[in-house]
Amino acid sequence: MDPALDAASGVNPDRLWQRLMTMATIGAIPGDGVDRAALSAGDIEARAVLIAWARERGFAVEVDEAANLFVRRPGTEARRDPILAGSHMDSQPKGGRFDGIFGVLAAFEALEALEDRGVATRHPVEAVAWTNEEGGRFSPGCMGSMSFTGREPLGRWLPIADAEGVTFETALTQTLAATPDLPRRPFRTPAHAYIEPHIEQGPTLEALDVPIGAVTGIQGSRWFMIEVHGEMAHAGTAPLVGRKDAMRAAVRAIAALQEACHDPEDVTRFTVGKIEALPGSYNTVPNLVRFSVDLRHPDAATLDRLGDRIARVCERAATPCSVTVEETFSQAPVVFPRPIVSAVENAARALGLRAHAMPSGAFHDAAFLAGHCPTGMIFIPCRNGISHNPAEYATPEHCAAGAAVLTAALVAMDATAFA
Ligand code: GLV
Ligand code: MN
Ligand code: MN
Repeated sequence: MDPALDAASGVNPDRLWQRLMTMATIGAIPGDGVDRAALSAGDIEARAVLIAWARERGFAVEVDEAANLFVRRPGTEARRDPILAGSHMDSQPKGGRFDGIFGVLAAFEALEALEDRGVATRHPVEAVAWTNEEGGRFSPGCMGSMSFTGREPLGRWLPIADAEGVTFETALTQTLAATPDLPRRPFRTPAHAYIEPHIEQGPTLEALDVPIGAVTGIQGSRWFMIEVHGEMAHAGTAPLVGRKDAMRAAVRAIAALQEACHDPEDVTRFTVGKIEALPGSYNTVPNLVRFSVDLRHPDAATLDRLGDRIARVCERAATPCSVTVEETFSQAPVVFPRPIVSAVENAARALGLRAHAMPSGAFHDAAFLAGHCPTGMIFIPCRNGISHNPAEYATPEHCAAGAAVLTAALVAMDATAFA
């Protein structure tokens, strides 16, 4: 039997589903969702559960300085770099049960399938869980993968505080202290390849009734934090004329940005997802309004052009208030190498599953791994395209199909010498 198909036949749909449902109890919130913020007690518990499962199977576990976790099944040739597969275990504040954790558990299932079928690989194969992909507690997201790949130094994230004032450094220290015995993996350890399974988080695969997305790349994202500065005044007495009302100015700025980023083709993605007014009182005109912008586009030049206009558009709209704009995150559009996309398509075909080639609208740790080693992704459908919502759902069959395609693709990638 072809070793890729042999290994994929070891995927155990019930085992994978049970593991997913066990993880879904950690940080469970009403409506079937999870709130498992990066480096929270829930994240630490989820890590402990994964480590325990790994040890039961005899897999070695390592961690790096950013608390990225690596579960290793050895290869037959000691000098070979590992093939990494995985995603993240943190969730959005009102997140679903599949975003991130599906990729980690599909990778773990692939390790188990290889083990159960006794399929040897030349390269070690590792299931990896990247720290803080979501950016919901500590912004921006993808801090773990950016640190591992050397895209940004870990020190850049350490002072960043959550809403309670807890710094990333404090939460990271607590998380690492929970696993003092784990060997430390250096940042930038070379990898043969990386592949990330994930729910699609959009409606395309479900509409096509296709179980597998062979992801061709990831659109670019830019995040901005915009501050509008005005002047406090008494809400009952200060005439509107003459106020420097930071909220009114922010509303105008947001409307102007929506207009500037309006795209009749509906390709551009523009979102204001977070807003805060200070001092935060019914009857004081706010002197400071802070809001976030998440801007995305698959074309680098368009993303540059739109993002570079943000400060000017806000300044014009916010007069007489003043504006400061800080870019807090940027990730250029990524195109995955053809051999990895083909490995996914071929694995699906060999397993009798239809695959659809498509880009990712969401960003993923894969965007940063792409600068480190040959990288790709596998999507599975999610119900009604819903994600970042407790109602997020993927069927057990689609989860198993994604894990089987991953397993077969890993075996194929093991035999491929990427240029
Ligand atoms: C990732 O969670 C994203 O916002 O695309
Ligand atoms: Mn995700
Ligand atoms: Mn997400």
